[in-house]
This record gives sequence, structure tokens and C-alpha cells, in this order.
Amino acid sequence: MSDSKIIKDLKDSIVETAPDSPHGKTHFDQMKLHSLSSDRFPHVRMRRMRRTESIRDLVRENSVQANDLIVPLFVEENIDERKPLASMPGVFRETEKSLEARVKDIAASGVRGVMLFGVSHNKDHTGSDSMDPNGLLARMISRAKNAAPELSVIADVCFCEYTDHGHCGPLCQHGDVDNDRTVENVAIQSLIAAEAGADIIAPSGMMDGQVSAIRHTLDVTGFSHIPIMAYAAKFASCFYGPFRDAAGCALGANPNVRKDRKSYQMDPANVREALRDAMLDEREGADMLMVKPGIAYLDILAKLRQQSDLPLAVYQVSGEYAMLRFAAQAGALNYQDAMMESLLAFKRAGADMILTYAGDDVARFVREGKPFGA
Ligand code: PBG
Repeated sequence: MSDSKIIKDLKDSIVETAPDSPHGKTHFDQMKLHSLSSDRFPHVRMRRMRRTESIRDLVRENSVQANDLIVPLFVEENIDERKPLASMPGVFRETEKSLEARVKDIAASGVRGVMLFGVSHNKDHTGSDSMDPNGLLARMISRAKNAAPELSVIADVCFCEYTDHGHCGPLCQHGDVDNDRTVENVAIQSLIAAEAGADIIAPSGMMDGQVSAIRHTLDVTGFSHIPIMAYAAKFASCFYGPFRDAAGCALGANPNVRKDRKSYQMDPANVREALRDAMLDEREGADMLMVKPGIAYLDILAKLRQQSDLPLAVYQVSGEYAMLRFAAQAGALNYQDAMMESLLAFKRAGADMILTYAGDDVARFVREGKPFGA
């Protein structure tokens, strides 16, 4: 139909109304108008709801909020000054003292949790310093908790930061991690963390049976109120690269020790196995489940959302953070936009909580409109 024909038809559909009509002198004849609806136009136009910013705001399904966010922090013992990390621009190894100011600042940003990683100077075969009530793990937890009591202090319980070989538990004869000894140790480590003031225990070692061992230990020692956030689906990922430098737990120095964690962390090829592992953690008593890494594993997150009603966390790991930062530094993309889009993708896929090194910057951006740059 030509435009002039449409206009003529439209004019034809205007009819005189009765002189006393409340509609005024004329109105459209609805039947005639209806007959004009043509195949020329799409009946459904998605762009109607994208036209203005206010309409887009109204129909938006997901958003990133400050109270979704958890900031991972590195704390090194026996250093005088906080150290910037070359592979993670903007991230530092805190001193035990500077940790206090850092967690206060994070709490003020509106972020609701921190997760602590120790950089140990007291490593041995089992990682015994992390099972010592006066060790770095216990000290950094109580420091953070006392500095910002309103913040949830999440204890990553694992041994790779405290073992001299860098694996996530003591090794058996053939160089692999001894599952059952590690489980016993991680139960002790969890108790130490809870006694030091941890609000949530997050076992990340991917040992079989660790969630039930921790749950049982906490329950019989007066910590039945402390929830477990299980690293339920943690993949053996290359995206942890910068973290291993940051936390000083790279593998490979010792020739007799395996150079990867593939015998305990998940195969990146597997979906069903990840879901089984996560559901096992749920049955063992996990209160929350985590998927890690984030952006390359959105399918796992979305599928787990379908299978479990537990709160879900996702970890945007060191390599993901580094990719965005270095790409922005090279002028390839805008750091803030790329960060916000990644975090939104986690929410869309079903995450309730997001661990991200950019947490406090993001919180200040969404709450106060304060931009953050590369
Ligand atoms: C193990 C642990 C790792 C990370 C968090 N906890 C490293 C690993 O499993 O090798 C990685 C986090 C990151 O890359 O940001 N305790």
C-alpha cells in the first residue's frame, strides 16, 4: 500500500459525530481503521520498550546492586607496606595493618562481604599455620571482623596458600593430594576460622566430603549458626593465573609435584559432573553454592539455578579481572562498561552474589554514580 493511499484511507475513516458527542466533532471509525492494519508493519515492535531511558529502566529484568557484591582481599604477613600486584592492576597485597582501613573503606562503599586470602611466610607440607589459632588465617579474620563488624567476613578454607608445595592439601606418596587427610585438616581450619570470627566458611579445595566434615565439626563445637558457602563447581581453570602470583601459590617449583590441580578441580569440559558435584555439596549441608570461574561458565550457573534453590554465588576470578583491565589499558574496550556488563551477565544467569576484585568501585558507581576508570 502506498503512503498516499494510507493517508486517504485514514481520512476516509474519520466520521462526523453527533453534535453533542463528548468525543468532539469527529472520531475514527474503528472498523474502518481496523481494516487498515496491514502486513506492511510488524504487529509486535520490540523497540517500543527500548525507546527512552525511563522505559528501559522500567522494563529492566536484572541489575547489579552493592549488596550483591563480595570483595576478595590478599593479606601478606611480615611486610611493612601494601604491595601492588603487577598482574592485577588496582589490586594490592594488604599488610595486616592496612587490611583494617581497606575493609572499613569496603564496608563504607555498601559492599556486604569480603573474602580473605593469606600470603603466608610460614609454609610447610600440611599448611599447619592455617590451623594455628595464632596463624595468619586466624589473625586476618579477626582483624577484618573487628575493623568492620557489619561486613560479612568469609573465610576461604583451603591450604594452597599455606603449603610449601602449593597444592590444596597434604600430598600422599604418589604426589597427589590426600583427600581424607585434607578433609580432616580443613575441618580444623574451619573451626579456627569460626573461632576467629568468620561469618561464613567457604571451602575451596574440591575435596570429597569436605562440606559434611566441616558442617559436623562446626555443629559440635558451638558454631551451628555459621553457614557454609561451598565452592561447588570449581573448575581447573587457567583463569586463576594472576591469583596464584597474588597469593604466592603457583605450582611447578617442585619437580616431584604435579603441576596442575586437575585431579581435584573440575574438568572444564563437564556440565553434568559439575551439577552432580554441586548437588552433593547441597546434600552434605552447604547453605550456598558457588560457581567459579564466572564468565566462561555461565551455562553452569544458569543450569545450577534451575536445579537448586540455594543462594548462588559466582566468582569473577583474577584472570577475568586482568583481561578487562589490560584490554582497557590497551584501548580495546572501556573498563567500567565491560565490568558492569560482565557482572550483569552473572545476575542474568542466576547469581545472587558476585565475588569481584572491583566490588567497592562497582558499589560506589551503582550507589553514588561515581565512575571508575582503567
Ligand atoms: C584456592 C583458590 C584459588 C582461587 C581462589 N581460591 C586458586 C586455585 O584454585 O588455584 C582463585 C581465585 C582467582 O583466580 O581470583 N584457595
